[in-house]
Amino acid sequence: MSPLSSQQFTNNRVVITEGAEHVPLNKEQFKTVTEVLTLPELQKDEIFVQNLIFSLDPYLRYDYQEGSKESSVFGFGISRVIASNNAKVPTGALVISPSNWADYSVIPKKSLSEVAVLDDVIDPKVPLSAYNGVLGVPGFTVWDSLNKIGDLKKGETIYISSAAGTLGQLAGQLAKRKGLRVIGSAGTDEKVAFLKNELGFDAAFNYKTQDKREALTEAVGEAGLDIYYDLVGDDTTEVALDLLNPQGRVVAVGILAYHQNEAPKPITNVYNVLFKRLRYEGYTLFDRFEHFAQFWREMTPLVASGDIKYTQTVVKAGADKIAETYLNVLNGTYKGKVNVQLAEI
Ligand SMILES: NC(=O)c1ccc[n+]([C@@H]2O[C@H](COP(=O)([O-])OP(=O)(O)OC[C@H]3O[C@@H](n4cnc5c(N)ncnc54)[C@H](OP(=O)(O)O)[C@@H]3O)[C@@H](O)[C@H]2O)c1
Repeated sequence: MSPLSSQQFTNNRVVITEGAEHVPLNKEQFKTVTEVLTLPELQKDEIFVQNLIFSLDPYLRYDYQEGSKESSVFGFGISRVIASNNAKVPTGALVISPSNWADYSVIPKKSLSEVAVLDDVIDPKVPLSAYNGVLGVPGFTVWDSLNKIGDLKKGETIYISSAAGTLGQLAGQLAKRKGLRVIGSAGTDEKVAFLKNELGFDAAFNYKTQDKREALTEAVGEAGLDIYYDLVGDDTTEVALDLLNPQGRVVAVGILAYHQNEAPKPITNVYNVLFKRLRYEGYTLFDRFEHFAQFWREMTPLVASGDIKYTQTVVKAGADKIAETYLNVLNGTYKGKVNVQLAEI
């Protein structure tokens, strides 16, 4: 989308309509509005960006203003700064930033702690879209949560749910590199084969066609389970709690079942946490951005050399295709990261 002038911009913006909570999301709950934006007067530290490539993460952020039946939808993406009132984020910079699903956005002051300037970080051997995935917020989440909570030890066994997804693929590979035995689950046989044949998982199963308890019990074997890396937040945790060894860990990172507005069955065996002295800890990245530089130092060479693999899809389309693509992310159409590229880079 090109600007109408240096001061005016045609902006397509996705909105979600009231009533989207507590029901499975569908296309009708989203619409795209087209508006003409005038270059806004920026408050101190604010930036105005053109959004180039959105990362379609499974969670949705939206925030109905008082009295409104519609809200913009917010996600992370890579954007170009068009105007800046912030000395740390100059005009022209490429940034990873939270932004509304639109061609153009003002990034308000409260979101600036989540903005990272990419220009000095980008490795030309890696496509820019990878900074939405394996080298972006999802990759950082995996690297940081495994370091902070996972306490991975050689010879241990880890199980990862949604293992063929963006976070799951990386979690499995980082655990393998540390000498763990890695088990994953995914929703199609093709994804299960991918985990075993392409990413080197030791075992994998299809959680839709196989009984989870039987499949995981068999995959874990006599050695038992040491870490459950939970990306789903459903009753799979109940199976994992029964199989975990003493001093095992549950790293709670994702809630894919909730993103689908499913009502997961309650967990009835939390006593395992006490008797086995388990560590059950949640992770969010929002107070961890200061560690991004270290993440990039460690992970960029591994991704650039191909030692860490990743799959991604870049859908080149307008803002009006973001919601549909997002719904396809949730229903398992893709493997790994999905991006919608709105503009040429
Ligand atoms: N804590 C944090 O700071 C943080 C940061 C980033 C992401 N996250 C969260 O981590 C989770 C994973 O993110 P991601 O980007 O890697 O997503 P993802 O796994 O790529 O998500 C898409 C996949 O989820 C699977 N899926 C959808 N519904 C499911 C369900 N009910 N049960 C099991 N699998 C389901 C589908 O694969 P199948 O074909 O295998 O079903 C689909 O392809 C999300 O909940 C995300 O919000 C948390």
